[in-house]
Amino acid sequence: MIPYLNKGQGNTLMDNIKDKDSQSNKMIYGSEAMKKLFKVVDRVASTDSSILISGKSGTGKEMIARAIHNKSYRKNKAFTVINCSCLNENTVESELFGHEKGAFTGADRQKIGLLEKANDGTLVLDEIGDLKPKTQTKLLRLLQESEIYRVGGNVPIRLNIRVICSTNKNLAEEVIKGRFREDLYYRINTIAITMPSLSERPEDIPMLLKHFLGQNIQIEKPALTVLTNYSWPGNVRELKNLCERLRILQDGNIIKLNHLPEEILNRKKQSSVFYDPNVTLAELNKMYILNALEHFSSKRAAAKALGITVKTLYNRLHEYGAFKNYSMHSTPIQPSLEA
Ligand SMILES: Nc1ncnc2c1ncn2[C@@H]1O[C@H](COP(=O)(O)OP(=O)(O)OP(=O)(O)O)[C@@H](O)[C@H]1O
Ligand SMILES: [Mg+2]
Repeated sequence: MIPYLNKGQGNTLMDNIKDKDSQSNKMIYGSEAMKKLFKVVDRVASTDSSILISGKSGTGKEMIARAIHNKSYRKNKAFTVINCSCLNENTVESELFGHEKGAFTGADRQKIGLLEKANDGTLVLDEIGDLKPKTQTKLLRLLQESEIYRVGGNVPIRLNIRVICSTNKNLAEEVIKGRFREDLYYRINTIAITMPSLSERPEDIPMLLKHFLGQNIQIEKPALTVLTNYSWPGNVRELKNLCERLRILQDGNIIKLNHLPEEILNRKKQSSVFYDPNVTLAELNKMYILNALEHFSSKRAAAKALGITVKTLYNRLHEYGAFKNYSMHSTPIQPSLEA
């Protein structure tokens, strides 16, 4: 698999060929959240600081990286995107640094690495959270040095590259879990930019719809309300794809409620499912059951609402060591009275 690619075009063999979308399209926004974000972009663009862009898939991380590049003094130099999830730990050095002819078996000619090609420009390390541990170590070494050697070479090559990393994972959490090197995290995280999900900036939705549908297509009020309240799990990419479908499939110039796909009409605004990485399933079960007991006036009612038998409820309470608390009343006895 080729580690460098242009989003929207699949894996292409070319680097530095800007994909049509991101090159021609300016970013559309009007929300306070995005205005604030662009103030940061304006401030950091002219510097050489490393930037870490986090955010859910389709929120526009790559577009922001490109905006930073275009606002920087490097704007006429290369803009290279390397997808880290495709970097192979065995070939990463030769991919990034290049190699001299005869450096290893199979190196039948000299190869210029991606970094040398990216020199003087902006390098985006996309999906940095997917890097294998060994590759993380190699990358850290690279980021700490401004000189590289091609594999098998002895001529130092000076590099001057602005590095922007992007991730849809929570890297701080990955560090805590031991999956991402802490030193690498601090090296790439000089400036942190977090892309808000589309549902966190609903003001942008009508603007984006208008932009992607074109001036000639109108949206009827009820349809616009549903679209604005929809949760957009795929963020701007999902909205853009929907607009493309609507433009092709609808026959008039007005989008009505019945033109919208089932999944949007049915799901409308769906709050994302609660998830806390610090809570295990067993702890969640316990909290849920004990909360149900506080909510209902009898254990029977609580069990019924939980979809379990009273016997199972009793068993759980024994398991949690909480049976005594609930033996007399449905409301727990205060700890002070317990002794
Ligand atoms: N504010 C915006 N205005 C116009 N187009 C946008 C905006 N944000 C995102 N897009 C478009 O949405 C699509 C997804 O954007 P982009 O590739 O930058 O997202 P991403 O966060 O890098 O996604 P992933 O995590 O999946 O790589 C692209 O086609 C991009 O052009
Ligand atoms: Mg991306």
